[in-house]
Amino acid sequence: MEPIGAEGRDAMRGLLGAVNESLGAPMAPPWEAACREVPRHAFLPEKIWVGEDLKECSRGAAPGEWLRHAYADTAVVTQVNDGQAAAEVGERWASCSASAPSIVFRMLDMLDVRPGHRVLEIGTGTGWNAGLLGPKLVTTIKVDPALAAQAAGCLERVGLGAEVVQGDGARGHAAGAPYDRVVATCSVRAVPPEWVAQTAPGGVVLVPWESP
Ligand SMILES: C[S@@+](CC[C@H](N)C(=O)[O-])C[C@H]1O[C@@H](n2cnc3c(N)ncnc32)[C@H](O)[C@@H]1O
Repeated sequence: MEPIGAEGRDAMRGLLGAVNESLGAPMAPPWEAACREVPRHAFLPEKIWVGEDLKECSRGAAPGEWLRHAYADTAVVTQVNDGQAAAEVGERWASCSASAPSIVFRMLDMLDVRPGHRVLEIGTGTGWNAGLLGPKLVTTIKVDPALAAQAAGCLERVGLGAEVVQGDGARGHAAGAPYDRVVATCSVRAVPPEWVAQTAPGGVVLVPWESP
């Protein structure tokens, strides 16, 4: 993994402060350590889109700006229009993103993962959340095959071995069940019965709920 550098370290410090402020308390030491050891920028592609108008930012053309976005407490769009070249279509819509760090750490805290737990994550995104879960037994599902491969590559580069499965997360991943923790990073209006069926007795299913 490429070294984070002085600018990156400053940006990381700023992010930790912003996340703690948003959480209303310092994050648990293991999550702070994970944030430092699994740097968010290592999971972002060269080209990202930011803000409500999805402004394009390329690492090559604007490295400082790209790094600032990598360590801001905001969501970063990592793919638009399902990967079709943006110029070919008029309107841009976000088809993959890295969640805002304060949401990521709030959910990790709520998940209450313990050593030895088997975790199923639905919605790999960049792979950062799976990376933060660390050397625990994590299986993560991504619907887009190219992005699944990209996330697997990022996880490998930071030396973490989460299993990235390509498929529709709504079905879960029966082959790895039962899981102690099932966490969705995409919002749902109903919890698929497969997720409950694949959760071990006493386990937890955590989802961002979207009101119908
Ligand atoms: C907010 S992003 C995840 C961000 C991730 N926590 C990170 O920081 O990189 C939610 C992801 O869920 C994925 N997703 C949505 N529906 C899905 C499904 N049915 N199966 C698998 N992935 C899905 C989206 O493509 C998107 O990448």
